[in-house]
Amino acid sequence: MAGPETDPTGADLENRRILYGRRQGRRLRTGQQTVLAEGLARYGMERPDAGARVDPAALFQPAIRRYWLEVGFGGGEHLAWQAARNPEVGMLGAEPFVNGVAGLLAHLQRDGLANVRVLPDDARPLIDGLPDAAIERAFVLHPDPWPKARHHKRRFVQRSNLDRLARVMADGAELRLATDDLDYLDWMLEHALDHPHFEWQARGPEAWRERPEDWPVTRYEEKAVREGRRSWRILLRRRARPSG
Ligand SMILES: C[S@@+](CC[C@H](N)C(=O)[O-])C[C@H]1O[C@@H](n2cnc3c(N)ncnc32)[C@H](O)[C@@H]1O
Repeated sequence: MAGPETDPTGADLENRRILYGRRQGRRLRTGQQTVLAEGLARYGMERPDAGARVDPAALFQPAIRRYWLEVGFGGGEHLAWQAARNPEVGMLGAEPFVNGVAGLLAHLQRDGLANVRVLPDDARPLIDGLPDAAIERAFVLHPDPWPKARHHKRRFVQRSNLDRLARVMADGAELRLATDDLDYLDWMLEHALDHPHFEWQARGPEAWRERPEDWPVTRYEEKAVREGRRSWRILLRRRARPSG
């Protein structure tokens, strides 16, 4: 019997299909289609093939030497906010939801930001292509909670993806997680605390109340607040690799 169908990245297609939610929502208007086509020509990157290396320095002209990564940027408001305030940082963003990608590209074009590269696809092949310790900060903000127990394996925050991130994150790099789902919060903490390469930065109960100035509200957080929920932030740090 044939094994699971695989795509050129080696990813199991079934796994690709189920990890993220919708790829397209409302049909894009003509103007949005233009933004998407022009924006991807300027900011887009190709999905790396399995085993292919991604040299982040080659993605930016003029050259940029520091890189942050956002997984599942949704409408892109947070990524554009960070890019505008950190012009010395190359922002890499991955998002398979095409309407979200069009949203980010509209922000980038409107604000004339040059320090962003966008993969309109699953973040995992991009992460797998990056060099060790290349990323100084990573964001996974309000990943889909997949509330049913039988769907928990679809959650982005799980051991295999934390391993991926740990490899590409520099010593001391921050990993910022957020969720408005209490069950996913528990799950994130359990997986983070269990992971040998990440350390939770909370210094006490006030960690739940404090919002770092450079951590703006995302669209999903706004929605959660409108609907009477709150969002929980988890700040992790990539532990230093053993020397020698
Ligand atoms: C609930 S939305 C949150 C969007 C945004 N971060 C925010 O806080 O407003 C989660 C997003 O993660 C994206 N996503 C899911 N799996 C992903 C993956 N493997 N790689 C990249 N993005 C993914 C989804 O397409 C969706 O847009």
